[in-house]
Amino acid sequence: MQSIPLPNINLPVPFSPEQASTFAPHVDALYIYLVTLTAFFTVAISAAIIFFAVKYRRRQAAELPRPIAGSMVLELTWTIIPLIISMTIFIWGASIFFKAYRAPNQAMEIYVVGKQWMWKFQHATGQREINELHVPVGARVKLTMTTEDVIHSFYVPAFRIKQDVVPGRYLQTWFEATRPGKYYLFCTEYCGTNHSGMGGYVYVMEQAAYQQWLAGGTGTESAASQGMKLFQQRGCASCHQVEAGGQQGRGPTLYGIFGKPQQIEGGGNVTVDEAYIRESILNPQAHVAAGFQNIMPTFQGQLNEEQILQLVAYIRSLGPAGQPQGAGAAGAQTTGTTTGGMPPQQQRANPIGPTGERQGSPAPQVPAGGNTGNANRQQ
Ligand code: CUA
Repeated sequence: MQSIPLPNINLPVPFSPEQASTFAPHVDALYIYLVTLTAFFTVAISAAIIFFAVKYRRRQAAELPRPIAGSMVLELTWTIIPLIISMTIFIWGASIFFKAYRAPNQAMEIYVVGKQWMWKFQHATGQREINELHVPVGARVKLTMTTEDVIHSFYVPAFRIKQDVVPGRYLQTWFEATRPGKYYLFCTEYCGTNHSGMGGYVYVMEQAAYQQWLAGGTGTESAASQGMKLFQQRGCASCHQVEAGGQQGRGPTLYGIFGKPQQIEGGGNVTVDEAYIRESILNPQAHVAAGFQNIMPTFQGQLNEEQILQLVAYIRSLGPAGQPQGAGAAGAQTTGTTTGGMPPQQQRANPIGPTGERQGSPAPQVPAGGNTGNANRQQ
């Protein structure tokens, strides 16, 4: 599907918000298909009703219609044609859905916490923002999101992404912005008195301007580095080793575990991802790593969602650069825009549209050590 060039539709009457992400043309094309299909059948069925009402109207008081025995051809036709049409909607819709909600492994990581009534963001490089999100154009941005209180929903119409955030869970979505600009950000789940005011803007910036913005920010300590401090302060280090080849302590070594399968006590495997780390901090008994005793205390109520996300960022950063899950290189003092072995601008395996092939834009800047032409490294 992605090989079909899609038109950038600009109607005189605003039919939909402007298109500012790689998803937008695909979502709009599907939407236009649905509207066209609906309009066609509305007109066709209405016309048929009127036509038959006139043609087969009762002409005399004593008139009786001829009995009809049924028609296999007719039955099959009105079964098979709607089946084919509804399957095109299903397959097309599902393919866009999976692209939008399966975040790529290699992307800029941004942590999002919703709260009555604001959106809090933290970049992997440490910058925090409230109700504003600055991102570079042409880079994949992955949002790992949760909420401190009730359900909210993160919605950027120009990007055609919307994701509920649910207490106690991490939800992910991603986007790649295609045009610099300022775009509305909304909460679209009623969450109390000031729900309607819970929103802000996403600022999509050219790469150079974004780097400047990053450099000018305060709090340039990376999320992973803040997580490392918490890790020390809360005494995690007394049980968990974080060095390569370190001796196992009372708890499992955390070096290089992110993204890997972990055997658990009582059989079975879990993948060490954001959700498993969060669960292990708040509810350590749930899935104890095989070979270890169930001795870790819970940190429920002692860490807020932002701190847990910083710990996740830290554990994610423990490991060799460019490990298979792309979890590695967010070193504790990273100041670049990437968390993987490769800058997001260079990642060309984007399933839904081009990275860095925008018209009229300067060539993407390659940060030192950038790995051009390594298109297929991502799984
Ligand atoms: Cu948050 Cu509505």
